[in-house]
Amino acid sequence: MQQATGERPAARRHRGELLEVEIDSLAFGGRGVARAEGLVVFVSGGLPGDRVRAEITKAKRRFAEARVVELLRPGSERVADSCVHDGEPCPGAPWQGLAYESQLTHKREQVDEALRRIGDLDGFELEEIEPAVERWRYRNKLEYSFGERDGGAVLGFHARGRWDLIVDIEDCLLASERGNVARNEVRDWALREAVPAYDARARKGTLRNLIVREGWRTGQIQTRLVTSPERFPKPPVDLHTMIEGDSGGSDGPTGVLGEERLREELCGLRFEMSHGAFFQTNTEMAEKLYSVAAEFAGLTGAERVFDLYCGIGTIGLSMAKRAGEVWGLEIVPEAIADAEANAERNGIANAHFVPGSARTGVRPLLEKAGKPDVVVVDPPRAGLSQKIVRRLLECEAKRIVYVSCNPTTLAPNAAQIVEAGYSLRRVKPVDMFPQTPHIESVALLER
Ligand SMILES: C[S@@+](CC[C@H](N)C(=O)[O-])C[C@H]1O[C@@H](n2cnc3c(N)ncnc32)[C@H](O)[C@@H]1O
Repeated sequence: MQQATGERPAARRHRGELLEVEIDSLAFGGRGVARAEGLVVFVSGGLPGDRVRAEITKAKRRFAEARVVELLRPGSERVADSCVHDGEPCPGAPWQGLAYESQLTHKREQVDEALRRIGDLDGFELEEIEPAVERWRYRNKLEYSFGERDGGAVLGFHARGRWDLIVDIEDCLLASERGNVARNEVRDWALREAVPAYDARARKGTLRNLIVREGWRTGQIQTRLVTSPERFPKPPVDLHTMIEGDSGGSDGPTGVLGEERLREELCGLRFEMSHGAFFQTNTEMAEKLYSVAAEFAGLTGAERVFDLYCGIGTIGLSMAKRAGEVWGLEIVPEAIADAEANAERNGIANAHFVPGSARTGVRPLLEKAGKPDVVVVDPPRAGLSQKIVRRLLECEAKRIVYVSCNPTTLAPNAAQIVEAGYSLRRVKPVDMFPQTPHIESVALLER
């Protein structure tokens, strides 16, 4: 390994090389950005103002990727890490070292920058970011991986940048106390019974992942164990009862410990979801997000609303009382079945749900339901393809409410919609994911 200094002439860098750099900003996705002799370096673990020693993990001609190996001088926005496992900052909370007010400022700036720089958009009102109700212990779902250390099971997150190393967790501040207890019970059972973790390289072993999901308002907890098809001892009855898959593990790679269906309450409504269905991971902030979406939808009681990418129907159902009718479209059939049952559970008769992809399902939906006044879209991080935007435009809705978990895909999508004659009026970021660089926002486009 080579130690770089400021005097070195510019040269192609190499993997494993060490650099001493100062972080001057944050990139989309959350890594620190530094410059070293004309080279842009994206530094995992680096925050603005930090002086760090970083190891290059990927080197290209114009840029490099690196990870912090030593914090030489902390930046002025730094605060002490709160969530630490085995002496390492929690990989699930990469922005925890940034003061919360700074996290909010950076997120709002990144939304603005994406819309202006990537989308070439202007003239919209960028509203204040809605801060999180809880800065810690806000996640209702966490996925952990099994690993081994000293011959025993560990259960936690992958160490930053390491697919082969799992950081064991005792108390993760992203999870509730109950969620931590549930995870630790499963790890202790694995240790006691000497059930081996699955080793991807050797293709041996049993335990792969554990997903802990909670009904925030119902107090319900669900743990799903993902395993290889090896036999393993039945988890203790007092842990939970295995009701899906096979506790013998011989014919089921996944099993739910506890009740299969998760119940949650949101916006005064009761929801149930199957374990494969999407649900917002921050219950408290999902309510805030949906209230922004409802405000932007500007409903008067008469409108036909399309809820595209509707999941288990939460957005559409939370708007149904203020709309004429709601039509949801979603690709996962189990989620559509959940949405229909959720409408019935809450006595909502003016909401209908159809299975299908946004790419092929919008035209049939238009034929079935007629043109909507408002379309809400809430796609995954990849955003909408150009073709899906064209389908969205065929709806000729007066208003489009775009709920986005990625400003860098919102920006080109919004630009395409604006190009077709809409105006981008309002954008409001909502902090669903404190301590992480993830940014949620709601945009209103009007004709
Ligand atoms: C970010 S989630 C939003 C779900 C829901 N609106 C909510 O707030 O819980 C995106 C949803 O889009 C669905 N989805 C992904 N690709 C899709 C597609 N091509 N067409 C329709 N739905 C899709 C996913 O299954 C998921 O339920």
